[in-house]
Amino acid sequence: MNYTFDIEQPLLMRGDGNSSELTAQHLTVRFQGLAAISDVSLTLHRHEVLGLIGPNGAGKTTLVNCLTGFQRPTEGHVLVGRERTSDWSPVDFRARGVARTFQAGRLFKDMSILENVEAGALALGLGRRQAVEHARELLDWVGLKADPYQKAGMLAYTDQRRLSIARAMVLSPAFVLLDEPAAGMSDAECEDLMELISSIPSLFTCGVLLIEHNMRVVMGISHQIHVLDGGCILAKGTPGEIQNNEAVMAAYLGMES
Ligand SMILES: Nc1ncnc2c1ncn2[C@@H]1O[C@H](COP(=O)(O)OP(=O)(O)OP(=O)(O)O)[C@@H](O)[C@H]1O
Ligand SMILES: [Mg+2]
Repeated sequence: MNYTFDIEQPLLMRGDGNSSELTAQHLTVRFQGLAAISDVSLTLHRHEVLGLIGPNGAGKTTLVNCLTGFQRPTEGHVLVGRERTSDWSPVDFRARGVARTFQAGRLFKDMSILENVEAGALALGLGRRQAVEHARELLDWVGLKADPYQKAGMLAYTDQRRLSIARAMVLSPAFVLLDEPAAGMSDAECEDLMELISSIPSLFTCGVLLIEHNMRVVMGISHQIHVLDGGCILAKGTPGEIQNNEAVMAAYLGMES
């Protein structure tokens, strides 16, 4: 595959020179006094797949919400490159090259598959023709075979997840945060997904934060893994180190992997 992503206008806003890392510095989020995450620090680089795992309710989505502007941290900072993001909206994050998918869809179900991807490009200033052309390339890249004019809501659940990835990647982001992309996928679909996600750092020069309960997927393609438990970082390491970490095994005891 040889894709060239040479969209100029929105990428200028991304501040390429600065945004070599997406950083969480000592983040704490409290909901009605209860900490969903506590003092979490993490750095995502543009050449890597960083896995983020942890039991249900560990705080993974809350962390991703902070890193994409959907949740203001109670304490701590999020940095894109060297810039502090304290007053940034989710749109500001997207414009600076931070994209995401959601655990539960959030597609425009009444719009066509093509329009869902195109809308992302249009929203950040691409011309119509360029947006459509680029959206088609992305749909091809994620391997979505369905008629692009079909309504997104008609797609199978797993295809909706592929469409979400196409939509997130349409602006060739510097960082993409994927919240459980393999949910509901068969083993064969997971294989394709692993290949797709692994290709993102080199193809797009884009760092991937991968939240995933499917251990085969996350262990298979992450360069590093961070483990959250009860809102705190329990362990960091390579997949091999994490698989042999006793504290991690204890946290997962009784959980299906
Ligand atoms: N908006 C909110 N208001 C109150 N509590 C919340 C809110 N969002 C999350 N929480 C709580 O924060 C904790 C962390 O939730 P979060 O969704 O981040 O976990 P998670 O690791 O993504 O879990 P899962 O694997 O089930 O998706 C949970 O106890 C959850 O109930
Ligand atoms: Mg979650």
